[in-house]
Amino acid sequence: MAELTLPEVELNIYGPKDPVEVTVVENYVVTKESSPNFVRHITFDISGTDLEGRVQVGQSIGILPPGKNEKGRDHKLRLYSVSSPTAGENGQRHLISTTVKRTIEEIDNKLYVGVASNYLADLQPGDKVKMTGPSGKRFLLPENAKEFNYLFFATGTGIAPFRGMIMELFEKGDYQNDCALIFGCPYRTDLLYSDYFEQMASEHSNFHYLKSISRENRRKDGSKHYVQTKLTDEEELLFPILKKENTLIYICGLKGMETGIYIELLRLGLEEYLDIRKKLPEDLNEIPRDKIKRFIKPSDRTFEEVY
Ligand code: A2P
Repeated sequence: MAELTLPEVELNIYGPKDPVEVTVVENYVVTKESSPNFVRHITFDISGTDLEGRVQVGQSIGILPPGKNEKGRDHKLRLYSVSSPTAGENGQRHLISTTVKRTIEEIDNKLYVGVASNYLADLQPGDKVKMTGPSGKRFLLPENAKEFNYLFFATGTGIAPFRGMIMELFEKGDYQNDCALIFGCPYRTDLLYSDYFEQMASEHSNFHYLKSISRENRRKDGSKHYVQTKLTDEEELLFPILKKENTLIYICGLKGMETGIYIELLRLGLEEYLDIRKKLPEDLNEIPRDKIKRFIKPSDRTFEEVY
């Protein structure tokens, strides 16, 4: 395998006690027009701050929403993955972006509106925001990133770091290996940045854009289309990539998605992506899903950020 070295990163240049003020430059919806969900792409101008040029793709930034919680305390910091490449949004190093879903939930007949996500979603160009960070030192592209193939698995806003990583790999036109983005969402209207990824797939034969839409059609056996089911349904494309020794897997999104991916990798005999801690039963279904982490952890070829 090509040598796998993660880059040195800077951490917490600004902390929650000394956040930096940055300015919103754009804030637009990236779900389809007819979607009832609102996911937004928000770009911040960080010029003149110590963040400029020092936030790497795969890292997160913190946002401090103004105001107090019901206990009268300041709202807590929320972390958001950066969705721009290390070189900055559109190659401009003073611009970094993130991807935010407005969270609205009904629990026991009551409406809960996510504080930070709705604060961010309401922002207008010119508004000021208190930012911290960067954070994260493992969910990164390796130093010699172009020497590897990638399978990027994302559900929902888990797409954010992969947008930046894909831009990073392809922007100079010299990336020769294979990169597959496997994206899962409930309906076609929830596809994120899909125009960009469709265009990338049409321009680069080594970029593969696979969509797992869970609530429209079922698979032949009646199960849902999830990101992990693509490992079987697109085996002809993905298996040869996975068998190469310079392939890495990245997983980002819903907590729990990683276990489904582990099981599919095991079924396909791809144990090199896993660190098996305990003897596995013959029938993998016998492993209780909530205890799977006692049996299997990701190997150094698998990176995950689930929440
Ligand atoms: P579903 O909710 O139909 O079961 P979003 O963040 O936009 O809601 O999308 C999350 C996507 O991830 C949905 O398609 C959801 O499907 C799917 N999903 C839910 N649970 C899992 C899981 N354990 N593994 C993989 N995908 C999942």
